[in-house]
Amino acid sequence: MTIRGIDDCLSAREGRLYIEECDTLDLLREFGSPLFVFSEDQLRRNVRRFRTAFQAGWPDGPVVVMPAAKANWLAAIQRILAGEGCGCDTYSAGELTMALNAGCPPQLISVNGVPKDEDHIRRSIQVGARLTVDSLEEVDVIERAAAELGTTAYVRLRLKPVLSRFIAHSDFVAEGLAPTDIAAIAYKGGLTFEQIMAVGPRLLKAANVKVVGFHQHHGRHRRSVRYWEAQMAAYAAEIGRVCRALGGFRPQEIDIGGGFAIPRDPFNAATVYSEPVQYAALTAISRVVSLLGPRSRYAVMARLVATITGHPNRHPAPSIEAYAEACTATLRRELPRHGVETAGVTLQLEPGRAMHGDTGIHLTTVKALKATTTPIRWNVIVVDTTEFWFTGGRYEHNLHHYLFANKLDAPLTGKADVIGRSCYGDRLLPAVPVPDVQVGDVLALLDTGAYQEVSMSNFNAMPRPASVLVTGGSASLIRRRETEADVFRRDVMPAHLVR
Ligand SMILES: Cc1ncc(COP(=O)(O)O)c(C=O)c1O
Repeated sequence: MTIRGIDDCLSAREGRLYIEECDTLDLLREFGSPLFVFSEDQLRRNVRRFRTAFQAGWPDGPVVVMPAAKANWLAAIQRILAGEGCGCDTYSAGELTMALNAGCPPQLISVNGVPKDEDHIRRSIQVGARLTVDSLEEVDVIERAAAELGTTAYVRLRLKPVLSRFIAHSDFVAEGLAPTDIAAIAYKGGLTFEQIMAVGPRLLKAANVKVVGFHQHHGRHRRSVRYWEAQMAAYAAEIGRVCRALGGFRPQEIDIGGGFAIPRDPFNAATVYSEPVQYAALTAISRVVSLLGPRSRYAVMARLVATITGHPNRHPAPSIEAYAEACTATLRRELPRHGVETAGVTLQLEPGRAMHGDTGIHLTTVKALKATTTPIRWNVIVVDTTEFWFTGGRYEHNLHHYLFANKLDAPLTGKADVIGRSCYGDRLLPAVPVPDVQVGDVLALLDTGAYQEVSMSNFNAMPRPASVLVTGGSASLIRRRETEADVFRRDVMPAHLVR
């Protein structure tokens, strides 16, 4: 039997879910529930696929894979990436520390973000990392710090190419249903052409500054290859325009940022695209069917709500190889058209979710079952995890693919909401097909490797779960479970309240 979601590091053995050579049920027994589990093998495979695919399309110079630390900054994960020869996209001073501790060569560290504190800028220059200039305000600080340190600041200019007339709506929830070209303008990253021209000539002349190239991270507005082709074409045109305006500047490094999806992208298309429509339709239908009496209304509405609130992506997003082909082919065609030679240029990329997404699963145990039978049937499975440990994903309305780890062969005979343990709605999975579920069953949420573990909160004063790294048949703790004392450790009692 083929089970959807079973691939790469996951396998089904006698009805149980394995990650690499480890039985997920044994992992829970050893490390407790709930649990984040990461596959070393899958991470290494992803790095190599990215590097091979992009290098195949970019014979002009080296390719440096700089996975976005924000997606997963566990120290052990970063150590694996550094060992694979990766660079690192860092955003905060903390991520810079983490990348250096992991052993990432400083010249392969991309220091992004706005605003950057003065200490952060100073330290980046001191260690020789690549500083991405992303505000006019930081230019003074860079020049001053480099001069005071008596060293060279290696900088890249972060561009903000406009994807004119790319009107398909953006997937970025923060920008609502805005057309992609407008959503990209609203996104804070990058400097406009005018802003670049306000600082570029000065940086090129500065004694302690070396401008090595360009950076862009457009966001994750669309997952299609067509979007990537448009992005790269716009980036190439903007690079050409800036190079000409800077009197024939030649970049040594071109960083294309991140934003690629994983094939089993957990993004819940239905919620974002159709929320207003859902609301309008449900309100109108609710009014009409209420004329038929409460019983009919409940029956119709229950079915409707269950059907339209969750639509997992059934169409896989493009593969790493497809993205690589789209990006490299477009850049190699468009850069020379805009007067920029590609020979000798280093190509850098900063995948976050596409690097880490499918390296992790989250295991959670069923703790309670609730079934309402009147006025309508409504089944609820309560698990010991919470949406507050998936904050990154909830923000994007993620709908993760799931498997019952101890019942892979069981037919899906019912429907239930899977609800987390916090006092909020905590609807992790809305009205999904389920087997005959018992307390103690184990649910595996797939593709939780990016942005989830690192965005957990302590809502309801709940200690956060542990993380484990699986390497073949062995499993090691890489972040311990929090204790209650950890949760309260930052609290300070003012003297007048001490009893
Ligand atoms: C500068 C930069 N690079 C890379 C990424 C990674 O993006 P993604 O996880 O969508 O690949 C981000 C995400 O915000 C970013 O800001």
